[in-house]
Amino acid sequence: MILPGEQRFQYETALRQLQAFPGSWILEIGSFRGGSAHCFAQAILDTPDTPDSPESMLVCIDPFFGCYDEGLRAVLQRDFQGASSFVPFCEALGPARLARTIPVAATADKAAILLGHLHAPPFGLALIDGDHTWQAQLRDLELARSLLLPGATILCHDSSWEDTQIATAQFSKQWGYQLERGVGGDFDRITV
Ligand SMILES: C[S@@+](CC[C@H](N)C(=O)[O-])C[C@H]1O[C@@H](n2cnc3c(N)ncnc32)[C@H](O)[C@@H]1O
Repeated sequence: MILPGEQRFQYETALRQLQAFPGSWILEIGSFRGGSAHCFAQAILDTPDTPDSPESMLVCIDPFFGCYDEGLRAVLQRDFQGASSFVPFCEALGPARLARTIPVAATADKAAILLGHLHAPPFGLALIDGDHTWQAQLRDLELARSLLLPGATILCHDSSWEDTQIATAQFSKQWGYQLERGVGGDFDRITV
């Protein structure tokens, strides 16, 4: 779960990347109820569009059922009678932020097929916060890598989890990317 202090960090990171790469897009894998997505979409709204660059957009990938995590499933069951987290996601973002957001209701492996056909502008920022197993973390990092600009940032949430830590370190080492541990709360930050 994203903590309030971490929201500011994500908002500021997004602002910085949007300024560095005007018109770039933002990718989120694992959106749940929109805690991080809210920060990213707000940063997009707060960054003026330039005449010669396309509008930045946020792509949010999540099956929206809290599927892998028993704790999240329990929250959905308790607060939303087991409904999908898509309703609270939309409520958290509100109409203005949703207008700059493309929600993709799928797991990251299925969404990868779609993203390949989207012809989106390159991404300047990605948040990896989906299925935190070693295998899925590596797969999500590779998906992000295929879409990111040189100089882009990848934030990996729950950097204190052993599986995500190992996968993130392995990925950074393999591609020679700079890795900073435990920044902004519980994030690893990779510069590609
Ligand atoms: C820790 S939550 C994300 C929290 C979110 N970033 C926030 O701001 O509150 C993890 C989310 O990952 C999603 N998820 C699980 N497996 C996934 C997969 N294979 N692909 C994409 N999302 C996945 C779950 O549905 C859940 O909503």
